[in-house]
Amino acid sequence: MNDFPKDFLWGAASSSFQIEDGIENDFTVWERQGLFKNNGKDPVYSNGSNHWKQWKSDFDLIKEMRLNSYRFSVEWSRIEPQPGVFNQKAIDQYKQMTDYLLDLNIKPMLTLFHFSHPVWFHEKSPWHKADSIDRFLSFVSYVLKHLGSKIDLYVTLNEPLVWALAAYGEGVFPPGIKDFNKMMNAVYNMLAAHKEAYKLIKQHNKEAKTGIAKNMICFQPYDSFTLMDVLFTKFIDIFYNQMILNAFSQNRLKANIPFLVNFNKPLKLDDSIDFFGVNYYYRMYVKWKPALAAPFELLFENRDRNGISDIGWEIYPNGLYKMLKRASALGKDIFVTENGIAARDDKLRIRYLDRHLQIIRKSLKKGLPLKGYYHWSLLDNYEWLEGKDARFGLIKVDYEDNFKRSIKDSMKFYSKSTNGNS
Ligand code: FCB
Repeated sequence: MNDFPKDFLWGAASSSFQIEDGIENDFTVWERQGLFKNNGKDPVYSNGSNHWKQWKSDFDLIKEMRLNSYRFSVEWSRIEPQPGVFNQKAIDQYKQMTDYLLDLNIKPMLTLFHFSHPVWFHEKSPWHKADSIDRFLSFVSYVLKHLGSKIDLYVTLNEPLVWALAAYGEGVFPPGIKDFNKMMNAVYNMLAAHKEAYKLIKQHNKEAKTGIAKNMICFQPYDSFTLMDVLFTKFIDIFYNQMILNAFSQNRLKANIPFLVNFNKPLKLDDSIDFFGVNYYYRMYVKWKPALAAPFELLFENRDRNGISDIGWEIYPNGLYKMLKRASALGKDIFVTENGIAARDDKLRIRYLDRHLQIIRKSLKKGLPLKGYYHWSLLDNYEWLEGKDARFGLIKVDYEDNFKRSIKDSMKFYSKSTNGNS
């Protein structure tokens, strides 16, 4: 037996582009043009994890491992390959997938936006322009028309700020623009689109719960005795972790990082959120640098000797508690919508899971309104900017042998920890 609440949702998360296959979207075009090479890694997408074909047996594995929920996303580029032209076959498959999850008694949590776009999107109505909102809503309406009666748990946007920083700040995701002002306009429009999507979902189903998934990082000064490290940690923390929470509580999007970002505009979100999803992975250190164009550095360290993932991220379980506590200040339910580790050594994932599940236990004990935990990820998959070397899956995918699946010990550990031994 275990001591977790009976209705707690235990799940695994994924996103369409990272696991499906046969997709033609802004990322695949970007890759074909060789633009990922700029990251020095040249990640190769090719076939994701073949989930578009193997979804049924993948869902059987979720059932076998006795998880009671699954977070996934619909691929906008599949559903609306041309503006206003919808692909019935694609939505039909998502319908079948949802029905099968429901048959298995696995509660779907559906993400409507998870980083990828139809090829036409950035040309026609990029996020920094206001007509992006209607574009997104027309896609959402179509999805709701077909899936709305089956699903009652939605994430409108996955990590809008992470996406905007990559696409408009660093320029490493399509459309590859480097302009902080446009970036803030993109975030603004995305949040406005969230609000409208929230209203649409409520029109379909008053009982449905809708939130966003927000990446949160535990920032600390590199040197807590260096005033500039401390100051910049504050600026960055407010910008990265707090700004979107504040937008919901203050009806205003406000950002300020000296020399880099300055934005302040009313945004009537009007409490349109039922839960706040926290995607938590790691801690980072902030080190000030005397350079106007880039006045700080962000670093990973292993100061507490908790370990480092295969892609350099520091394991820092207590950060999850800190972030959940902050998110709960909004006064809404909270979910861990993502948490996980890139590790070829599965023992490291077991340790990671164990430590983070202890934090889940602690958060519940302390009375945080936490309703579920989704491990990232169900399957080994394509990681943005990293490719397939980053192994986040609870289920192994053998890319050399027809995408063959095998359940990892960490998945068994997760199943046992959350269901009890019986
Ligand atoms: C998050 C993304 C998710 C995955 C994990 C590792 O930022 O939402 O798609 O790539 O990181």
